[in-house]
Amino acid sequence: MLSYRHTFHAGNFADVLKHLVLVRVLRYLTRKDKSLCYIDTHAGAGGYLLEDPQAQKTLEFTNGIAKLWTRDDLPGALIDYRRLVRAFNDSDDLHRYPGSPWLAAQLLRKNDRLCLFEAHSTDSALLQAAFAGQRNVRVTTGDGFQGCIGLMPPLERRGLVLMDPSYELKTDYQAVVDTLLKAHRRFATGVYAIWYPVVERNRIEVLERSVVASGIPRVQLFELGIRSDSRGYGMTACGMLVVNPPWGLRDEMELLLPYLANVLGEAGEGHYRIRELVGDQAGPVR
Ligand SMILES: C[S@@+](CC[C@H](N)C(=O)[O-])C[C@H]1O[C@@H](n2cnc3c(N)ncnc32)[C@H](O)[C@@H]1O
Repeated sequence: MLSYRHTFHAGNFADVLKHLVLVRVLRYLTRKDKSLCYIDTHAGAGGYLLEDPQAQKTLEFTNGIAKLWTRDDLPGALIDYRRLVRAFNDSDDLHRYPGSPWLAAQLLRKNDRLCLFEAHSTDSALLQAAFAGQRNVRVTTGDGFQGCIGLMPPLERRGLVLMDPSYELKTDYQAVVDTLLKAHRRFATGVYAIWYPVVERNRIEVLERSVVASGIPRVQLFELGIRSDSRGYGMTACGMLVVNPPWGLRDEMELLLPYLANVLGEAGEGHYRIRELVGDQAGPVR
């Protein structure tokens, strides 16, 4: 039985990083008319009320989207992301925060497809309701790792896979690599974006080594931290691994991550990492 509920975390700094990268990648991919397939392996409920007791209990959004809400010095790509979040709200006030499927749906076209997987029956039902009647959206209740592999290669031969597990199960660290490997074997030109939390740094070092050892080329890493690494409880940083990143993404992140580390970092401890984990040829970049 899964206990993770994303409402506790909606709009936190991790969602800011994940959704910023998602929006940037889709902006690049939709520059070409040719249709594409968006696969969200862990789609969540599609949207979250920040007045919900779960969100109010943690108030995580106050150190995420809320800190960007009224700033007048946002870089352009963050203005674009905030504009989308504002469109999800019914007023200038911040009441609601969109999930990855909703954000993706704003950027995708009628000829694109969205394949959304969510294992939690309650969240899956909410997602089904949110996209009811939209013929290019398919919501599946079940395991997104298996579901993603089953769709490979997508008919469109162009696409983005977002893998965003909660890592409630420690097996998720290996499952993202296994799924990436299997999916990439069938669809090597796809873009893959994998979110990860930094709770224990050594788990991320293992994850990075596994991705490098997989032999998959063209992998970039974008990480944002709000506190220094610690051995204590809680997420201090998070990152996105992007396979086949669109050209230009890294340059943008070079501008956006220092800004976010400065604005969202706590007590001056904000930090970021940008790495080319693997270059054009498989094998580590030295
Ligand atoms: C971090 S949340 C997803 C948030 C969403 N991607 C977003 O950005 O708005 C992770 C979700 O994965 C779901 N989940 C957990 N294991 C899963 C699995 N094996 N397959 C599909 N969904 C799963 C959880 O119920 C939870 O809703």
